[in-house]
Amino acid sequence: MIIAIDGPSGAGKSTVAKAAAKQLGFNCLDTGAMYRAVAWYALEHGLSLDDEPALGEVARVKEISFGHVAGDPTPRRVFIDGTEVTDAIRTAQVDRAVSSVSAHPSVREALVDQQRRIGNAGDYVVEGRDIGTVVFPQASVKVFLTASDEERAMRRVRQNERRGVGSVDFDEVLADLRRRDEADSSRAASPLVAAEDAVKLDSTGYTADEIIERIVSLAKEARAL
Ligand code: DC
Repeated sequence: MIIAIDGPSGAGKSTVAKAAAKQLGFNCLDTGAMYRAVAWYALEHGLSLDDEPALGEVARVKEISFGHVAGDPTPRRVFIDGTEVTDAIRTAQVDRAVSSVSAHPSVREALVDQQRRIGNAGDYVVEGRDIGTVVFPQASVKVFLTASDEERAMRRVRQNERRGVGSVDFDEVLADLRRRDEADSSRAASPLVAAEDAVKLDSTGYTADEIIERIVSLAKEARAL
């Protein structure tokens, strides 16, 4: 069974996806981390962000895998080609590079293949931008999670403070987030749009727990059908 959670950056997808998966006993897949890993690889190896054939090749042949921190059932560690990039994919440089990388159809095709292979192996909460529309259009539950720009920027600043990576300047984070929204929504290949049959949740003013509860109950309803 697949629960798809899509929405713009900073809407709280990661937090609610991980917690909902834990409550349901499902696995969790962060597809944004996969696009970030390819962007990190490109920066690290000096590949041009416009070089679609080279980036598509990276997405096809460099294995992206997830690992666990001891005692935590949710995979939080990310590896590409054997190198751990858990923190390295959260820097401002990767934030800036990832929209260009994820706009290339050949990169998307290769990562969508990997995402389907992972998700089809069990019960998954999958979070991203195109999960309900492209990757798993047959998902049992589709949620499109949004929040106001300011709330999303504030959450990202707090997250960066906690992690000790990325910008903690509100205005910079807000501008970057809006730029990324625009790029993600206007790209030709799988733009960020809500699936017609998605349940739209605006998390502004709600606690994470309230959103998690709603998603868990949608999943339970779907399971009972
Ligand atoms: O969710 P995130 O901020 O970690 O995602 C990073 C980038 O990857 C974001 O700019 C959009 C892109 N992305 C995508 O195009 N498709 C997905 N399924 C997930 C993320």
